[in-house]
Amino acid sequence: MDNWRDRIVLTQESAQVAAAQLVQAVPALPDEFRCTLCNRVFVSYDGLKQHYGAEHPTAIAPVSVALDINGRRCEVIIEPHWTLQRALQFRVGLTGTKHMCNKGVCGSCTVIMDGRAVLACTTLAIECEGKSIQTIEGIAADPKWKPLVDAYCRWDAMQCGYCTPGFLVSAKALLDKNPNPTEQECREALAGNICICGTYPRHSTAILEAAMNMRDSGDMKREIQFEN
Ligand code: FES
Ligand code: FES
Repeated sequence: MDNWRDRIVLTQESAQVAAAQLVQAVPALPDEFRCTLCNRVFVSYDGLKQHYGAEHPTAIAPVSVALDINGRRCEVIIEPHWTLQRALQFRVGLTGTKHMCNKGVCGSCTVIMDGRAVLACTTLAIECEGKSIQTIEGIAADPKWKPLVDAYCRWDAMQCGYCTPGFLVSAKALLDKNPNPTEQECREALAGNICICGTYPRHSTAILEAAMNMRDSGDMKREIQFEN
């Protein structure tokens, strides 16, 4: 009989495969056009809009937004006030961009938009049309960023893990711009990320180790030594 632990352990490699599957599973088109007021379903967005005009003329109709998520085009039907975080979670099916404070304070919802780390909870999804958005799933699926994920795991830079995607996305945004950061620069780049579990000291070390390995282009894996 096989060992049940072998079947449930998510290794870093299998996590990368799982992330790639999530990225691939992003739907190109909405799977339904449902009226949120009376629950009727229509075969097209035009049908839904006409229904709003005829049956709910004073209500604001849902909007269609074309997003570029981790390099994949994805059209979603959302309420105009929806944030990017909400659209990612409830329309795109990517739940790694976390909803925590929902006020732009904690950094758990960090994504990279056109090369810049932004907070998805304070960004309207309709503002994102035509922009390139990277989420934690896209970063975790990309072999180039495996050293960063590996270093986070090796340094145990997480406890409950809820804030960790936001930290990793901020770290990736830093390394995109500055592949050779100092510890102080790592701390500054993560200044907008809050961890209730208090894992702060390990993030900078993990980023420095990842930067070292990425500079060496994987010839030999190098590790910062744990202090005794
Ligand atoms: S959930 Fe967006 S900053 Fe906290
Ligand atoms: S690891 Fe728990 S909130 Fe950061």
